[in-house]
Amino acid sequence: MNKKSLLTMKDLSNAEILDLLNDAKAFSSSHSDWQLPVSNQVLTANLFFEPSTRTHYSFLSAEKQLGLPTVDFNPETSSLTKGETLYDTVRTFEAVGYKLLVIRHPQDDYFKELESIQVPIINAGDGKGNHPSQCLLDLLTLYNEFGHLDGLNILICGDVAHSRVAASDKEALERFGSTVRFAGPKEWEREGYPFSDFDESIEWADAIIMLRIQWERGAKLESLEGKDYLEQYGLTKERYGRMKEHAIVMHPAPVNRGVEIDTDLVEAPKSRIFEQMKNGMLVRKAIVKRALGLPPFGRSKA
Ligand code: CP
Repeated sequence: MNKKSLLTMKDLSNAEILDLLNDAKAFSSSHSDWQLPVSNQVLTANLFFEPSTRTHYSFLSAEKQLGLPTVDFNPETSSLTKGETLYDTVRTFEAVGYKLLVIRHPQDDYFKELESIQVPIINAGDGKGNHPSQCLLDLLTLYNEFGHLDGLNILICGDVAHSRVAASDKEALERFGSTVRFAGPKEWEREGYPFSDFDESIEWADAIIMLRIQWERGAKLESLEGKDYLEQYGLTKERYGRMKEHAIVMHPAPVNRGVEIDTDLVEAPKSRIFEQMKNGMLVRKAIVKRALGLPPFGRSKA
């Protein structure tokens, strides 16, 4: 795979992560109008084989702001409907001149079958495996809030079993020296992910990341014990009221209001949910810039 691809957080050293966050911050201030040199303005394709609003359209926004000519692939009007494989679809985009590919696919580790593709690939989410651009926007949100990524207490609650966000965030945050706990229904425990009591961990956390139930990945729930999901496992106003004064609420979205989070909390003072989306566009600019071989604007002091 091309060395500028970004498939999992393991592709990045801590220093490279900080470079990307630093570039994203520059895109929100000193470099807000920065565009790629003309020689780097290559034909780019966004291949989303499963639905997306934030990731798809923030990559598109980032690409257009950077000056890239882009196209959006539509699986429903493509030759996938005639039985073409993922590999042959991606190989076709490479053969006809696309030089950068952003791919989301429901299959875990789909990129392993694309190892012979020469152009850089940015993974926009694979099944329940990885979501590196979401992880980077989560790191940027935490970094902007706390000024560092070490020593933080992070609580991730909900459908952990099917969450690529939980997987990528755990990998990166633990590498930086933060502690990540998980909570939610016992059906959604995941090997290697330490579950704790949600109510006890509320007062421990510096950030609480709520997750959507991923019914489309086969999530099943039988342990509600007569309560509704919000009351038993969701962020209610009562739980919000017990959070540390400085603590924040995050959610990768889409949000199912009134299910995993009380609808009034989505834009409450501690919520950073829409800030995360803004940060998503900024980190995706930085990821695209890296994928095209441009060096960081400057090394972060963090
Ligand atoms: N957070 C996230 O990946 O959202 P989308 O599925 O809308 O891209």
